[in-house]
Amino acid sequence: MKNLQNWPSFVSIMEVGPRDGLQNEKAIVSTREKISFINSLSQAGFKRIEVTAFVSPKWIPPLADQMEVAKGITRYEGVSYAALVPNLYGYERARACDVNEVSIVLSASETHNNKNINATTKEAIARYKEVALAANKDKRPFRAYLSCTFGCPYEKAVSIKTIVELCEVLLDMGAYEISLSDTIGIACPKDIFMVLENVLAKVSAKKLALHLHDTFGGALANILAGLQLGISSFDSSAGGMGGCPYAKGALGNVASEDLLYMLHKMGIETGISLEKLCLSSLEIEKNLQRNLNAKVLNNFRLNGLNSEK
Ligand code: HMG
Ligand code: MG
Repeated sequence: MKNLQNWPSFVSIMEVGPRDGLQNEKAIVSTREKISFINSLSQAGFKRIEVTAFVSPKWIPPLADQMEVAKGITRYEGVSYAALVPNLYGYERARACDVNEVSIVLSASETHNNKNINATTKEAIARYKEVALAANKDKRPFRAYLSCTFGCPYEKAVSIKTIVELCEVLLDMGAYEISLSDTIGIACPKDIFMVLENVLAKVSAKKLALHLHDTFGGALANILAGLQLGISSFDSSAGGMGGCPYAKGALGNVASEDLLYMLHKMGIETGISLEKLCLSSLEIEKNLQRNLNAKVLNNFRLNGLNSEK
C-alpha cells in the first residue's frame, strides 16, 4: 500500500507510567512494586522510561520514595532512565541517583506554573537555566515538557506566540527535545495542526515530542496528526495511567498499549513487545484500587493478543 503520508518507519516512545501515572494514583504502591514495574517495562523493550520525579514529597506524596526507586531499579543496557526535576535541588538529587537524563516542566500558562511549581513563568525559566547549566556541565541530556500547550484549565486559551517563544527559550538552554503537552487532554487534530504549523516554522520536528492526555479520547487521532507532520517521538503511559494533580481535570495519558497497537498495525516499529507491556500493566494494576481501562489492555485480558496482526 502506498504510504498515504510521510509516516516515520520507527517511533521512539518515552514511557511515563511510573512518573505521570503513579503520581496520580490514590493507592499507595510500594517501592518494591514500583521497581519491579520499571524493570518489567525495561524487559518489554522501552528505551526511555521516566522512573520518578525529584519533586517535593509534600507536593507529590506518591513519589516520596524517588531516591529508593531510582537507585533500586536494574539498569538495562541501552535504556535511558529519566526523572522529572522542578529545580536545581531536584536535579542534584537526580544526579546523586545517576539517572541518565532529566526532564523539566514549564507551562505555557502563567497560572498553571504558579499552581504546579509555585513560580511565575519568569522565575521558572530562571530556575531551569540553573538546571540546564548543571546538566550541560555533567553532559546529562534533558528534555522539557511544555504544559498546557493546547489549553489551560485556568486560563483556557494559550497564545501560540508564547508557545513558540517558550520552545525557543527551552531549546536555547540545551533541551534535546520539547514535549508539547496536552495536560488536560482537550486537543483535537485541528489544534495539533494549528499549533505545530507555527512551532515547526521555528523548530525541527526532530526536536519535538507529543505528550497527550486522553481525557476526551482524542489522543490517538492527535498522534496520527503528529505523525503526518513528521513527529516521531511520543510519550505514553502503561495502562493509560496519569494526570497532573495541579491541573484540574487532567486524566490519564494515552495508553502505551493503545499506541503500540496502532503503530504496529501501521507498520511502524517501536522495538517494544505489546504482550510484555500488557503483562507489566496487569502486574501494577494489582496494586491499584481500580482497573486500568486501556482498550487494548482490556482486550488482552479477555482474548490475549490474537487480533493484533
Ligand atoms: P515550594 O514549596 O515553593 O519550594 O515548592 P521551596 O523552594 O519554598 O521549598 C519548600 C520545601 O520544599 C523545602 O523543604 C525544600 O527543601 C523542599 P522544607 O524546608 O519545608 O523541609 N524542596 C524540595 N524537596 C524535594 N525535591 C525538590 C524540592 N525543592 C524544594 N525538588 C516545588 C516548589 C517546585 C518544589 C514544588 O512546587 C513541587 O515539587 N512541585 C512539583 C509538582 C509536580 O510534580 N507536579 C506534577 C508533575 S508536572 C506534570 O504532571 C505535567 C507533565 O506530565 C506534562 C503535562 O502533562 O503537561 C510533566
Ligand atoms: Mg502529563
